[in-house]
Amino acid sequence: MAAAANSFRQPGLIPRGHIRFKSAGSLRSAAILLPEVTPMANPHVETERPLRPLSQRVALVTGASSGLGAHFARLLAADRFGTIVLAARRTDRLNAVAEECMRLRAGRVIVLPLDVADGDSIRDAFGTIAKGERRLDVLVNNAGIAEAGPAIDSTLEDFDRVMDVNLRGVWGCALEAARLMKTHGGGDIVNIASILGLRVANGVAAYAVSKAGVVQMTKALALEWARYGIRVNALAPGYIETEINDGFFRTEAGQKLIGRIPMRRTGQLADLDAPFRLLAHGASRYMTGAVLTVDGGHTVSSL
Ligand SMILES: NC(=O)c1ccc[n+]([C@@H]2O[C@H](COP(=O)([O-])OP(=O)(O)OC[C@H]3O[C@@H](n4cnc5c(N)ncnc54)[C@H](OP(=O)(O)O)[C@@H]3O)[C@@H](O)[C@H]2O)c1
Repeated sequence: MAAAANSFRQPGLIPRGHIRFKSAGSLRSAAILLPEVTPMANPHVETERPLRPLSQRVALVTGASSGLGAHFARLLAADRFGTIVLAARRTDRLNAVAEECMRLRAGRVIVLPLDVADGDSIRDAFGTIAKGERRLDVLVNNAGIAEAGPAIDSTLEDFDRVMDVNLRGVWGCALEAARLMKTHGGGDIVNIASILGLRVANGVAAYAVSKAGVVQMTKALALEWARYGIRVNALAPGYIETEINDGFFRTEAGQKLIGRIPMRRTGQLADLDAPFRLLAHGASRYMTGAVLTVDGGHTVSSL
């Protein structure tokens, strides 16, 4: 064991000074040595990012006017984030979510009109945040649409509509967020993908293609942006009951689908709480490029 420990000290295996070894007290007689990990400045990262208290962090949630986005906003509020920016097209709905967030004791809530399918709208929204808040700690890249139907009957315009929101919109927001985050040493981007980005189902081909793009985007941007202290991770929910799939689960097809989920139920919004907090709060400091499935086992269902 001691020999193995010594081999770790050889240059090139573990950076010098990163791990010190000390005797393990009562375990000494068994000659077991434990590594004592000490923080090490990472020369790859341009700026080391100390974790700010939640009450000083600024978070932006896209698609915050309903479903998952509104839920994530309420979670950030309950966790006392300093500033929560709620963005979507339906500002009347955003105002209602903002009131709920204030009741949950968020520090400040800002409502921002945003159409992620429109590049100018994305640039305007991030310009407003850069000017007013001067920072962004968390982007929840959640806005999305689902269009169902056989691929063979769809048009190129149908495809574009899905891609413009689910892929180009997510890309545009990630880029603007990263440029702002880079100015203050980093941040957390949480992309909302889907298990349909990992597997396929009938009648949602364009949606599945867009979400597969989000999965790959998460990994590619995590790779490029680790050097700026920006972590990029994705949540890949299974079927969670919201407006996007309203009514479907009461149909025969919906019931059949539930029968294929190993846990034999759809997801509820609360099922996302802990995984979301893990990715959005910085507790997962050594995670980037990860895709976390929350699906009752749906992606491991028997073939
Ligand atoms: N529910 C599920 O089972 C499930 C599973 C996996 C992944 N997801 C993903 O989770 C995300 C949220 O879905 P949801 O279930 O909460 O659906 P939802 O209730 O329909 O919410 C979709 C949100 O996206 C916003 N949005 C749509 N187009 C937009 C645009 N062009 N610009 C800005 N915002 C836009 C909508 O706001 P406005 O209409 O006000 O703009 C709305 O707030 C989506 O990315 C979805 O793909 C959902």
